[in-house]
Amino acid sequence: MILALETSCDETAAAVVTDDGRLVSSVVSSQAGLHARYGGVVPEVASRRHLELVTPVVREALAEAGLALEEVERVAVTQGPGLVGALLVGLSAAKAIAWSRRLPLVPIDHLEGHVASLALQPDSVEPPFCCLLASGGHTLLLAVRAYGRTERLGTTLDDAAGEAFDKGARLLGLGYPGGAEIDRLAREGDPEAFPFPVARVPGLDFSFSGLKTALLYTVRDLGEAEAERRRADLAASYQQAIVRALAGRLRQAAERTGLERLAVVGGVAANSALRAALPEARFAPLALCTDNAAMIGSAARFVEALPYPRYLALDAYASLA
Ligand code: KG4
Ligand code: ZN
Repeated sequence: MILALETSCDETAAAVVTDDGRLVSSVVSSQAGLHARYGGVVPEVASRRHLELVTPVVREALAEAGLALEEVERVAVTQGPGLVGALLVGLSAAKAIAWSRRLPLVPIDHLEGHVASLALQPDSVEPPFCCLLASGGHTLLLAVRAYGRTERLGTTLDDAAGEAFDKGARLLGLGYPGGAEIDRLAREGDPEAFPFPVARVPGLDFSFSGLKTALLYTVRDLGEAEAERRRADLAASYQQAIVRALAGRLRQAAERTGLERLAVVGGVAANSALRAALPEARFAPLALCTDNAAMIGSAARFVEALPYPRYLALDAYASLA
């Protein structure tokens, strides 16, 4: 039994996963409401909230699993990348739990965690496959040779795809986080109404900052009243430009690597237009697209555990290795 913790951004999460990849329980406490009025995550506010929530969330994950702390055999935790203050809360809690019973601890890379959201039973995706990881912080194309063994093929040169959704949502006067709001509003709009550009970037990289500027100018040119009236069309067209960029690049990556299987993970994998645009791809289960600890527990099955007391000096890291 693996007890996993995730606190890299604004979700406090704990989960219990078995060694053979069954998800026993998963608890996610989102702080989104707390940060909404600032239009984005405030790191210090996030750390303090994690501190309040981490113990009750762990207790709830254990209770849901019907498991006593004594029955936990390994502790897994996100080490990075993410907000350092936020990561440290989860890392310290995980160390304390592991230390108290001299259990081994498995430090997990958040991005490997997202990939491992595909590795849970009963519908796990067998490597090798070509994987698009699109979240609020990252947009990566990966060749997954085996779980825990990924090769980076491309990344974004500026904004992440989820960030593009969030910034677009803000320009359209929608709430934070904006991805799901755009997704919802776009269903009532015409994706062909506005011809937003898909950036031409060499290789397998992405760029979304030009798209965001195009939306800004379009909204400005329309004027407030007209932009408000056509909000659904703007959302649908903007979303379509992001989806085209993501789906197009994933297919190119598959062609270049010769990897036939396609997969999509991360918060943006929840997007309904992206799911519709890639019918041949496997998507992470909806509940495991945005940040959660189940994927961290899943990833722990493929990473060597550190025995007590080696992990006590472990530090968090903020950015991509
Ligand atoms: O993976 P995640 O929870 O956090 C990071 O590791 O960054 O991803 C959060 C991102 C946010 O930018 C959010 O707007 C986006 O995922 N997102 C969506 C949808 N649901 C969440 N973007 C598009 N469509 C959605 N349905
Ligand atoms: Zn994430």
